[in-house]
Amino acid sequence: MKVGIPKEIQADEFRVAGSPKTVKRLIKQGFEVIVEQSAGIQANYSDDEFREAGAELVETAEVLFDTSDIILKVQPVTEEEVAMMHKDQLVLSYLYPAQNETLLKILADKGVNAIAMDAIPRISRAQKMDVLSSMANIAGYRSVVEAANYYGRFLNGQITAAGKVEPAKVLIIGAGVAGLAAIGTAKSLGAIVRAFDTRKEVAEQIESMGAEFLTVEIDEDGSTESGYSKVMSQAFIDAEMKLFEEQAKEVDIIITTAQIPGREAPKLILDYHVAAMKPGSVIMDLAAPTGGNCVFTKKNEIV
Ligand code: NAI
Repeated sequence: MKVGIPKEIQADEFRVAGSPKTVKRLIKQGFEVIVEQSAGIQANYSDDEFREAGAELVETAEVLFDTSDIILKVQPVTEEEVAMMHKDQLVLSYLYPAQNETLLKILADKGVNAIAMDAIPRISRAQKMDVLSSMANIAGYRSVVEAANYYGRFLNGQITAAGKVEPAKVLIIGAGVAGLAAIGTAKSLGAIVRAFDTRKEVAEQIESMGAEFLTVEIDEDGSTESGYSKVMSQAFIDAEMKLFEEQAKEVDIIITTAQIPGREAPKLILDYHVAAMKPGSVIMDLAAPTGGNCVFTKKNEIV
């Protein structure tokens, strides 16, 4: 059976669906692997590395899509890519089936089978396949690194002969996978970290990472059976806004990660919160792809 790894065609997609290491593993399991020329270049994997791992390199996407039984992709296939596919092929990629009805229909009409990596249950047994967590972990880490860059001052406190520098104060809103990774990174850089989440069960996780868990005086828990948060009552959101207004005056960096699956991100940082922040403070909005937690967020833009 042939597994094909094409080059990603979306302009800002640097990843490749399989590394030379994965290729080796697949071959060991009895698959043949074909890789499109320069598929790994943006991810720093050369064609030679794929060749050495045992893959056959092909020059064009047409050949790859035509000859593979199974296609591994990062981004969902485009209509252009589906046109190169044939009945009974299997494609594994991000798919977001609930948001991509048209693509599902195109795939179904063609008789192509698709597995949405983003829809694999996020249970302990499936952790190796949890593409949402692995990327959220990186995003959380990176958000602190980026924030530190824009902030420009120390995150840790320092006492030297030249004087004393206070540690930066970082507020993390939403302590799911990305939020917890951000807490860990900010903490390890020496900042004072506070975090807020609607799910009470994360209090322990926040504290175990060394951050302070902030609370509001409303007895409402956002936890659901799915593990995700629900939409909160207006009274809760109002109390949350008030808490953030106080925090905005004090903290230097706010990192927001609040999401509710299948919905637009809740707006939690409003104009008066931003106005209350000190000049030079930074907001990193990881909910930008679903509308942003801050009213001023513009997707793919620095504001
Ligand atoms: P997510 O990306 O859907 O949301 C991020 C966070 O935002 C959540 O913690 C959510 O409670 C919070 N949030 C929503 N509305 C908010 C508001 N108004 N104010 C403040 N915070 C708000 O969440 P993610 O990272 O996908 O994780 C969801 C859950 O799934 C977590 O409990 C995570 O630990 C769990 N999980 C479990 C895995 C397992 O293997 N058992 C694997 C991956 C995740």
